[in-house]
Amino acid sequence: MQNRARMKKKHKDKLESWAVQDSIDLYGIERWGEGLFTANTNGDVILRNQNGGQDINFQELVREIRMRGFTLPVLIRVTDILRKRIHQIGGAFQAVMNEYGYKGDYRPVYPIKVNQHRHVIEDIINHGEDFNMGLECGSKAELLLAIAMRKDNDSLIICNGFKDMDYIEIALNARRMGYPIFLVVEKSSELPMILKAAKSLQVEPLIGLRMKLAARGKGMWESSGGEKSKFGLRVNEIIDAIALLRRQKKLECLKLMHFHIGSQVTDIHTISNAMKEAGTIFTEVYKLGANLTHIDVGGGLAVDYDGSATNFASSANYKLNEYAANIIDAVMKACDACEVPHPTIISETGRALVAHHSVLVVDVVSTNESHENTVVPVIPKKTAEIVHRMKETLDGFKGKNFQETYHEAMDLRQEGLMIFNLRHLSLKDRAIVEELFWVICRRILNYVRELDYVPDDLENLENLFATTYVCNFSLFQSLPDHWAVKQLFPIIPLHRLNEKPTCGAVLADITCDSDGVIDRFIDLRDVKDTLPLHPLRKSEPYTLGIFLVGAYQEILGDLHNLFGDTHVVHVSSGKDGYIIDKSVEGERIEDVLEYIQFSRGDLMARFRQRIEEALKREAISLKESAILQRRFDDGLDTYTYLNTGNE
Ligand SMILES: Cc1ncc(COP(=O)(O)O)c(C=O)c1O
Repeated sequence: MQNRARMKKKHKDKLESWAVQDSIDLYGIERWGEGLFTANTNGDVILRNQNGGQDINFQELVREIRMRGFTLPVLIRVTDILRKRIHQIGGAFQAVMNEYGYKGDYRPVYPIKVNQHRHVIEDIINHGEDFNMGLECGSKAELLLAIAMRKDNDSLIICNGFKDMDYIEIALNARRMGYPIFLVVEKSSELPMILKAAKSLQVEPLIGLRMKLAARGKGMWESSGGEKSKFGLRVNEIIDAIALLRRQKKLECLKLMHFHIGSQVTDIHTISNAMKEAGTIFTEVYKLGANLTHIDVGGGLAVDYDGSATNFASSANYKLNEYAANIIDAVMKACDACEVPHPTIISETGRALVAHHSVLVVDVVSTNESHENTVVPVIPKKTAEIVHRMKETLDGFKGKNFQETYHEAMDLRQEGLMIFNLRHLSLKDRAIVEELFWVICRRILNYVRELDYVPDDLENLENLFATTYVCNFSLFQSLPDHWAVKQLFPIIPLHRLNEKPTCGAVLADITCDSDGVIDRFIDLRDVKDTLPLHPLRKSEPYTLGIFLVGAYQEILGDLHNLFGDTHVVHVSSGKDGYIIDKSVEGERIEDVLEYIQFSRGDLMARFRQRIEEALKREAISLKESAILQRRFDDGLDTYTYLNTGNE
């Protein structure tokens, strides 16, 4: 058998025997899923059994959520994953400290901004008790929340962010209550304010200084670090701060040095460079007389969203243990070289703690297939010459000459448009030229899909034939980082993984914004323009899971088109299956209207006025007026998303 023919046969066999594992590989589930997710033999996506419980089948869970009266979209928060991540991160630091003989402690603090929802914070505090999980805040609101939520007397509160006198006084009052609460100086002018307030409240503050490192992160959030970052003190400002503390006889209050070079630091070298610099500054400040006890290495621990394990913006070229080892090794080396006691290491990991535990489940409401027609149009006897030339190009396509055929077809299409604009081509003939063009492209696409290598100029072809899957959600509310910074998230169908997905899809949300689309998807090597999905089946819901959305997305989301918060369901796995621990109803239309100062009472009064006007014009009957009034009233209580009737 010829080599080419053998390859084709192999490919055909594969088409016919698509296995669940093929889907697992195609969607990279094992690469980005941290061992949490897989698919069963029926092709349903499952969450692997955690803590000795049972696997959770997302399809079954979604069915039950629907039976409880919730329509999609729904955000599923898996408590077991949160617990696991807390233990993995804390465990990694502790294991490395034991291995290296580190003499200080490790204290994680959760940066509230990453996901401020009450149930998330409660779960983090409860499951983080073994590690004395503390809280990091960046504003007065977050500080008040941290003071109220914290349970354990030993857990730390780190106060970052710009501060006014109110912020400082709230923190100092909490300090009076005996809380280990650190005020981190983000800019020089904050230090005199802290000292003044501490004097008048007669409290000994715990002070930290944020260092502005020369080392900066890499990736989408790199501007959080480096000389030009908006936070932190330059080395000369650190020296001035020490001098001021010494003058006021408060140098013993300086206990902590902090830095944060940005979220999602994708390259381990960036972390080791920053750690080297931070470790050196820490020991130098110690040598200047500050009795430092804590070093706070900020956030930065990245999530491998695309599973490529590279320094690409949506990935990370290191694992958790390497991250912990880099930090501990750098602090140890810096301290041992100067005989400085090993400090307590604080990390402000948020993204890597919460990203994995939330999955957004959305249903597809329709598809718009583009250029699906593969039927060769009838060519009238009397037609323009360009139509014949396009037809000849189609007839001349023999497979191997795909590149030449593609270029020819592109040129002819362009020429056709030019002639049309000069009024030398009729609308009908232009339509035939277009149809022939798309038939040629479809045939070429079918051919190149089977090749191992696709030349660059044809890569866009798949995109041209992408089917738009309209999904019942708002990108702006639920995936703002995809819109704002093109961050990628793994997206997979939650079922039918035992079938080969045959459509190349882009996803559109239900907002009226052309930006509300997902047309960049994770890929091992690069970024994919389309997501392989299954054709829809009549009266069968098609459900997609958007994974790793637990960090930042919920809180950064906005009310574009007045699509509000989605329903949220908290689940955990028990011995006899999953348990729905809590469900939080998403926002109703009344709730989102209230944000923009439309009260229910006022709106109903206006509706009544409109109804009265319509009655006066005799546009509606009295009976209709009663129905309309009820409809408006009931409408205010409905979910802001489409009621797809799948419940
Ligand atoms: C001061 C500070 N700490 C911690 C974090 C959380 O970092 P990450 O998203 O890498 O977990 C941030 C976020 O940018 C931050 O600004």
